[in-house]
Amino acid sequence: MSTPLKVAVAGLGNVGVGVVKILEQHKELIKERAGREIQIAAVSARSKTQDRGIDLSPYAWVDNAADMADIDDVDIVIELIGGEDGIAYTLSQNTLKNVKSLVTANKAMVAHHGAVLADLAQNNGVALRYEAAVAGGIPIIKAIGEGLAANELTQVYGIMNGTTNYMLTHMESRGLSYDEILDEVTELGYLEADPALDLDGIDAAHKLAILSSVAFGTKTDFKNVYIEGIRKIAGIDIDNAKEFGFRIKLLGMTKYENGTLSQRVHPVMIDRNLPIASVMDGFNALVVDGDYIDRTFYQGRGAGEGPTASAVVADLIDIARGHTGAAFYKPASTLVDAEPVSINQRKGEYYIRILANDETGVMADITSALKASGVSIDQMKQKPAEVQGKVYVAIATHETTETALRDAINRINELSVVLEPTMSIRIEKL
Ligand code: HSE
Repeated sequence: MSTPLKVAVAGLGNVGVGVVKILEQHKELIKERAGREIQIAAVSARSKTQDRGIDLSPYAWVDNAADMADIDDVDIVIELIGGEDGIAYTLSQNTLKNVKSLVTANKAMVAHHGAVLADLAQNNGVALRYEAAVAGGIPIIKAIGEGLAANELTQVYGIMNGTTNYMLTHMESRGLSYDEILDEVTELGYLEADPALDLDGIDAAHKLAILSSVAFGTKTDFKNVYIEGIRKIAGIDIDNAKEFGFRIKLLGMTKYENGTLSQRVHPVMIDRNLPIASVMDGFNALVVDGDYIDRTFYQGRGAGEGPTASAVVADLIDIARGHTGAAFYKPASTLVDAEPVSINQRKGEYYIRILANDETGVMADITSALKASGVSIDQMKQKPAEVQGKVYVAIATHETTETALRDAINRINELSVVLEPTMSIRIEKL
């Protein structure tokens, strides 16, 4: 057996604690699989005195996590601090510059600085691994980068945020309103410290930006991900989706074609019978399409101590085995700048929901507005709203363009009978 691999754990939240537990409890199994022992050399977190339910006394305590990049006998720094910049990014850059490998669960940092970090890792001949940053316990980075490496991949899409999937699931199964389910996930502690990351689709967009690079060899390009969250979804939309044969999910979707990259995160209505439509609660699911594999489907827990720590330790084992290849599975200098595809170029079907006064001619006004914009109706339903004298009109369109749909919505919103901005959800044929 070779010498032990020494690791430093920066950040002792749920995931950090999980990493310590796995390394302790599966010590022998990991040693056999990795070919060498993996030893914790040092740990660091904001509070030294906090009770985390584990004994940290065998490990050297480092007050300032940034110093971990300078500890001589550390081979790998595990960055579990979080945040796209600040101490996490400083520590990560210094770790790689000091010729130590970096394992991170930091999706925001990799989404924003993936290309820079990959370059640093390569120039210093060390590894950068981030399996835990995307979909927790699903080994999607390795699946794409290694298992599917023979394919030209055409698209990757999926449920990349467990919290919002839990919310949408329970709005449907228990008939809860958006505010009721938001209170529940707040109480359960499912939301990120900044809830906007979950609710506004940003967390899913971080993961999508990373997946694009792994799948297509493009530079991580978070700023060009089109992002919409789930705040606009109401119980009525969940019911209408069901009646139209759909289910609402928050999906991340990335597609690379002839040098152009389309990256989108937004709520979608999809066929209720698709396998991904039945992925419920906090689970994540991913679909990867490629020319020789056709379609592959992955499902698992996308968050939590166990699944995320499992992904971190798998990366450590990988490095212990000597796998220090390129972070995005091709030389960092060959990652390409793709041309972003604007959401305005989308063609497809749409669901729209209108709140209007229940009076003579309202349907005629709405259908005339759609006609004027060249948008054709596939299905239409009318339901009384909570307030008397008002009505919800739900429409599923035939295929049209994003710009025609926006034009139709503007016309509808200008009608005197329409009482609030009309909302829309894209219908995806997957
Ligand atoms: N907030 C994230 C989620 C955590 O709900 O999926 C895992 O990245």
